Amino acid sequence: MTKDDLRFFRSWFEDYALSYPSEDVEVEANLRYKKEHSLRVRDYMLTLGRDLQLDTNQMLLAEVIGLFHDVGRFEQYVKYHTFKDHESEDHAELGLLVLEREQIFSGRVSELEEEIILTAIKNHNQLVIHEDIGGTTLLFCQLIRDSDKLDIFEQIINFYENPKRTPYLAVEENHKDHRYSLEIIQGILSGKQISYTSVKTPVDLKLIRLSWLLNLTFPAALEIAKRKEFFARLRAFIPETKDTVKVFQYIEQIISQQVSK
Ligand SMILES: [Fe+2]
Repeated sequence: MTKDDLRFFRSWFEDYALSYPSEDVEVEANLRYKKEHSLRVRDYMLTLGRDLQLDTNQMLLAEVIGLFHDVGRFEQYVKYHTFKDHESEDHAELGLLVLEREQIFSGRVSELEEEIILTAIKNHNQLVIHEDIGGTTLLFCQLIRDSDKLDIFEQIINFYENPKRTPYLAVEENHKDHRYSLEIIQGILSGKQISYTSVKTPVDLKLIRLSWLLNLTFPAALEIAKRKEFFARLRAFIPETKDTVKVFQYIEQIISQQVSK
């Protein structure tokens, strides 16, 4: 892949995002937010990549993966009016179908590069990265998962703090329902990765998102999460009970160990 190829991918992405115009303000806003999310995730890929001192070619790959990781979101939202995969379809798989249909990689990226891009996209939203993946491909899977999480934290917390800034954002904003599931509390405390399908209440969802802080891989990502105070800012929207406090302490303890490493 060359810098020219990257320029082609950038402009393809711009055109692709524009190819989903909508009269419906809610659809228009959510597609715009997804496009902006993709660009910010691309920026995080570059930040983390620079910190890891990736070489020029790897930086190009990092950028393409960041830009395209959510390319399936446009079709998903227009078709189903939701970003919830379990209520529609897996948006990563959908993204792979879009990329295959558009045939943008042929003649531009090597077979190995394409394999890395597609595997990273496919694994970006899975509970865990497929166990057979290793080496450079694993590195890019970890990079996109960290970059994606950093922007999701930011977007959700900003929305909780200031919902008027991103109207119609497809994020749960019920802060009045204080119920939570013990299954989620116990799951987090036992170090398990918890799937969205076990979410029963708005607090469950916030707890799962808070526990994502435990899944960041790279020190630079942890540093960004710390600097942006994601833990304290998200915790502020979760009711304090003896159960949730245990979760707060558990997460805080692990991340403070990770940061000081
Ligand atoms: Fe995604």
